[in-house]
Amino acid sequence: MKSGPLLLVGILVTGIAACDPGNSPKQTVDYPEMDSPAFQNYRAQCSECHVPPRTTTHTAAEWPSVIARMQQHRVQRRMAPMKASEMTAVRDYLVRNAAVGTH
Ligand code: HEC
Repeated sequence: MKSGPLLLVGILVTGIAACDPGNSPKQTVDYPEMDSPAFQNYRAQCSECHVPPRTTTHTAAEWPSVIARMQQHRVQRRMAPMKASEMTAVRDYLVRNAAVGTH
């Protein structure tokens, strides 16, 4: 995955650009199911190192391996790993809101 760090920069820049101080103090990026516990869990698990990516940045087929790689990043940084139930909930949330098609 050579393009990983570059994409991360893209995600971070997008996150910052989405914050429009003239309009609202809150981040204006919209995520699916924003009022749900599934989204709360997603945000909790995926915002510690970078802005949580949009669910459509990967297909349903791709998300599980991305999540597994993020778990490795946690372990490498000596962070507590996600629990199996948390990983499953993140995966289900991302998969049902993923990009359609194969990229
Ligand atoms: C421990 C820190 C950490 C956490 C927590 C984390 N990430 Fe990441 N993430 C990274 C790093 C480092 C990169 C850049 C290297 C890479 O792509 O593996 C990255 C890059 C990404 C990318 C861009 C690269 C790609 O393959 O598209 C996506 C998407 C992503 N993360 C999704 C997630 C999701 C989903 C979660 C929650 C399950 C998550 N991240 C939680 C550290 C983290």
